[in-house]
Amino acid sequence: MRSKPRSRWSVPAAVSTLTFLLAACVQNAPQDALKPEGPIARQIDGLFKPVFWIAAVIFVIVEGALVSLAWRFRAKRGAEETPPQLHGHQKLEIAWTLAPALLLAGIAVPTVITIWDLAEEPKGADVVNVQVVGHQWWWEYNYTDLGVTAANELHIPTGKTVRLQLESADVIHSFWVPKLAGKQDLVPGRKNFMNLEADTPGTYFGQCAEFCSLSHANMRLRVIAESPAAFDGWVAGQKADAVLPTAGQAQAGMQEFLSNVCIQCHSIRGTKASFGKVGPDLTHFMSRGTFGGATYDNTPENLRNWLRDPQAAKPGNKMVIPKLTEEQIAKLVAFLRSLK
Ligand code: CUA
Repeated sequence: MRSKPRSRWSVPAAVSTLTFLLAACVQNAPQDALKPEGPIARQIDGLFKPVFWIAAVIFVIVEGALVSLAWRFRAKRGAEETPPQLHGHQKLEIAWTLAPALLLAGIAVPTVITIWDLAEEPKGADVVNVQVVGHQWWWEYNYTDLGVTAANELHIPTGKTVRLQLESADVIHSFWVPKLAGKQDLVPGRKNFMNLEADTPGTYFGQCAEFCSLSHANMRLRVIAESPAAFDGWVAGQKADAVLPTAGQAQAGMQEFLSNVCIQCHSIRGTKASFGKVGPDLTHFMSRGTFGGATYDNTPENLRNWLRDPQAAKPGNKMVIPKLTEEQIAKLVAFLRSLK
C-alpha cells in the first residue's frame, strides 16, 4: 500500500515560511525599521511595540481558545448530540462587543496623538528646511534657506530637526529612511511634509517606497548625518561654484561636456553653458559617494559603464544620448572626477 502523497504545495510552503523566519536573523540590515536611530523614528517605534504586544497576546488567546474548543467539541464517532448553543446569550454578547471596543479605543488614543505629534511643524532657528523633489528615478534636494542643491545623498546635521517638503516632478514616489522616520508620499501637484532627525553621525539607507515604474528599484537614497560643524563645512563647499579644470584630460573632458548634449539636462555652476534641470546638478559630483539614484558607488569604473550605456545601468531613465566613443568617455570621466 502506498503512503498518502504529500501535497505538492508542502515544500514551497515550508521553504517560504523558513525564508521569512530566517530573514529575521540577518545581521547587516541597514533598513531595519525596528532599530530607530532618531527621536522621530523612536516615537513611531514607541507606538508600534505596545500595539504589537497587545495584538500578540490577543492572537494567542483567541487562537488558543479556537483550537482547544474545536478539539474539545470535535465530532465523535457515533455521538449525535451537539454542544449547548449560546446564541442570544446576552451577557456574553455584551462582553465580546465591549472588550474589543475598549481595546481599540485604548490603541486609538496614543495612535492619534502620535500622528498629530509627528505632523507638527518644528519650531526654532535650528530647523533645517529641505525641499525634496522626486524624479524618475532620483532625488533632488533643495536646501531652501541655505541656497544648496544636492541629489540622492541628503546631508543633515545631527540633533537638529529636518523639515522635508515633499514634491514630485512626475509620478508618485515615497520617501523612506526606515531608521530615521516613517514613509511619506511625494504626490504631483501637492506638498507633503515630514520631519527627520538623527542622533548620531552616520549613513542611513533609504529608498523610494512607492512603485514608480521601470527603475523604481534603482531609486535609492542615503541620509548622511554629520556633526553640525561638519554639516556647515559641507554647506560651504556645496555653495561654491565648481573649480573648473584648466589643463589635461579633465579640461578636454569639460570641452566635451559643454559641447555635447550633457548641458541640456545637467547644471554645473561656474560654467557658462551648463544649466539643465532635468537631471542632477553635477557641480560637486565628487562630493557624493554614489550616483544613479544612489545605486552605484562613485568609482571611475562604474562611471565608465554608466556613460557607455545609461539605459542598461538604469532602464528607462531620461538619459538617452548618442553613443559615446571610449575616448570621449575617458575625457568625460576625468572631467567629472575633477568636480570636487
Ligand atoms: Cu520613485 Cu519608486
